[in-house]
Amino acid sequence: MEKRDGFASKFGVIAAAAGSAIGLGNIWRFPYVAGENGGAAFILVYLFFVVVIGVPVMLSEFTIGRRAQRNPIGAFDKLRPGSQWKWVGVMGVVVAFMILAFYSTVAGWTLQYVYLSLANAFAGKDSAALNDMFVSFQTSSFLPVFWQVVFMLLTAWIVLAGIEKGIEKYTKILMPLLFVIIIILDIRAVTLSGAGEGLAFLFNPDFSKITSSTILEALGQAFFSLSIGMGVLITYGSYMPKNNNLSNVAFEVSFFDTLIAILAGVAIFPAVFAFHIQPSAGPGLVFLTLPSIFQSMLGGYFFAVLFFLLLLVAALTSSISVLEVVVAYFVEEKNMSRKKATAIATASITILGVFATLSFGPLADFKILSKTVFDLLDFTSANIMLPLGGFFIVIFLGWVLSKKDVIDEISNKGQLKIKLFVIFYFIIRYIAPVAIGLIFLNGLGVFNL
Ligand code: PFF
Repeated sequence: MEKRDGFASKFGVIAAAAGSAIGLGNIWRFPYVAGENGGAAFILVYLFFVVVIGVPVMLSEFTIGRRAQRNPIGAFDKLRPGSQWKWVGVMGVVVAFMILAFYSTVAGWTLQYVYLSLANAFAGKDSAALNDMFVSFQTSSFLPVFWQVVFMLLTAWIVLAGIEKGIEKYTKILMPLLFVIIIILDIRAVTLSGAGEGLAFLFNPDFSKITSSTILEALGQAFFSLSIGMGVLITYGSYMPKNNNLSNVAFEVSFFDTLIAILAGVAIFPAVFAFHIQPSAGPGLVFLTLPSIFQSMLGGYFFAVLFFLLLLVAALTSSISVLEVVVAYFVEEKNMSRKKATAIATASITILGVFATLSFGPLADFKILSKTVFDLLDFTSANIMLPLGGFFIVIFLGWVLSKKDVIDEISNKGQLKIKLFVIFYFIIRYIAPVAIGLIFLNGLGVFNL
């Protein structure tokens, strides 16, 4: 068998996994979902889930992937041959389709904003005018679809270049740069007049705002943001060197992912209040808010261009990880060439994606279960399919694989001391499955806690 393509350095591993985790989920989805769910109280629940469920699920995925050396479907099949477990992997491939379909809509908006910022189109506009500019773009047909297709082609192109050369090279330099730009935006945002209200919204919890749907949304956002529950990190785990400390990678990636989400919130909410935008404005929130900040800062033109470019890169390092799941599956399980697999996956996802994009315009009234195509894909994948995938992943690690195998993989065959293993094992066997199950049934209204 030919040697699997892999990551070359420890930093490369973290950069690639963090590249998958950090993306539109942190900068676009986190603020809009937090805004719709009342802010600080939601954020506390979210943080709790990242630590108690997110990190253990992430470590579980790395463990399964590195143990099996396969894509998600192949991994379950290799570790438990002939069993039904491969369906968890199949579900992952299906969710990958759904996520990329609507992710590419928003990434397309980002491309338009790269273009607009280059063209200096925000100059001299007040926040009402910036609002109109976004809405008239978002509800049109041709341009959003055009940019979505461009984004999907970019994603496909990087995936074709292969793991090491493709992914690692770019993320190592660009993610730290994104971090710096967000900090600069934060500094400007918190010094806006009226910033205090935004910070209070973010950090001053009102627990009466917590409902069962808030809890489900927080869990879904944690899964979405950390890229867990669909096998992306099983695939990445399969590329990780045998001497990597998987627990540390899981902690570090989760830490940076969460930090970026919070920092994005600090950039956005003060501006939301300073410029009188509704926190619950929905998926457009970031695009409505940030241009106003750029307008009010020194070097705004330069920062706007740089920010939207880096947001695009962050989106790409996430979208390639999603497409990679589908491609690795076609290549390893269906014996397709990488080229053919990439072409088929990209084309079919894009077709579904066009429906998501048009659901802000011509298809706005086309609803399934009273949701537009975009909302349905967004809601179902993050809040239902990812937690469900996570549920099966922890059950697999906690109850199906032998404890000895799990310890063997996490401790690199006994070379590493794994201090927190007892806690981890208790969480994945009991806490995580029960918690996910309860939140899930409760959030869907199957029963009421
Ligand atoms: N975590 C990515 C983000 O926050 O933008 C999105 C994502 C990537 C979700 C991969 C799920 C996934 F499997």
